[in-house]
Amino acid sequence: MPLESLIRRLPKVELHVHLEGTLEPDLAFALGERNGVPLPFSSPDAMRAAYRFTDLQSFLDVYYASCSVLKTEQDFYDLTWAYLLKADRENVRHVEPFFDPQTHTARGVRYAEVVEGVRRALAAGRSELGITSKLIMCILRDLTAHDAMTTLDQALGHGGIDGIGLDSGEVGNPPAKFVEVFAKARAAHLHVVAHAGEEGPPSYIADSIGLLGAERIDHGVRVLEDPALTRRLVAAKTCLTVCPLSNVSLRVVDSLEAHPLRKMLDAGLAVTVNSDDPAYFGGYLQETIVRTARALSLDRDQVVTLARNAIDGSFATGVRKDELRAELELAAG
Ligand code: ADE
Ligand code: ZN
Repeated sequence: MPLESLIRRLPKVELHVHLEGTLEPDLAFALGERNGVPLPFSSPDAMRAAYRFTDLQSFLDVYYASCSVLKTEQDFYDLTWAYLLKADRENVRHVEPFFDPQTHTARGVRYAEVVEGVRRALAAGRSELGITSKLIMCILRDLTAHDAMTTLDQALGHGGIDGIGLDSGEVGNPPAKFVEVFAKARAAHLHVVAHAGEEGPPSYIADSIGLLGAERIDHGVRVLEDPALTRRLVAAKTCLTVCPLSNVSLRVVDSLEAHPLRKMLDAGLAVTVNSDDPAYFGGYLQETIVRTARALSLDRDQVVTLARNAIDGSFATGVRKDELRAELELAAG
């Protein structure tokens, strides 16, 4: 079976996708019109053509500006539902999406509107498409720890999330800044993940685990710079949610061929492949895995290992993991 068909058949689990990063230009224009919010582009095509980034911050500037069209509960439903329909076509069976409430509450959108729109769509995803999910709220690390605590308090008061994460501009915003926030989240039994080692140093990976209690590391591509840390993550089977197309777009790596994913797999790390912000980086999960596998000459077993790592590293229930593993064995033949 050609690799592309195998990848299409595999039950896939997406552990690193920002819902705001699935906002396609067509939907952005439709929502902008519905809400009377102009976009600084003449058309969806012009918007897409402007997606040329030099680093993480150059992307975040565009990403946050585009979020201005998202205002109502229905907008967040539409955004999430559009993503789930695409995921379903690619045989994504379980997803743990991120959302960034501070991007919206800072513009006067109520936290409840954001989370309820997302949750309503995730519930429909489960009942209508059979896609299970866990929802992860990300803290914007370039804002203050006080702002983060206010956001966590809102989230705990409202309910509806399964985990907390840490994203946005990494360098200069180390995990240590958010120790109290994450301690409170853990005390409330939320799962913990954190972006680390994307642009920031390997010490941010170690501190995300040691100081924040991160159960998974988002990106983590700089881990190989620290062999002792690499050995620790291998021993602990810490899941790393790697996003190769993102890393190329944001110039974390020079090319897909030069991506360290294969070396990470060879080192025994529990690596997974994910799409990050697919509306901006040129591919949803199927395309991301296919292009990565081709560029790095991954074989069938390595592709199946990536899919298995994603099931193992997810926060799905034990029963759901067993179902997904059984589907995987069937599809892998
Ligand atoms: N927010 C959305 N995508 C991100 C990324 N790749 N890194 C940090 N923050 C993000
Ligand atoms: Zn990300």
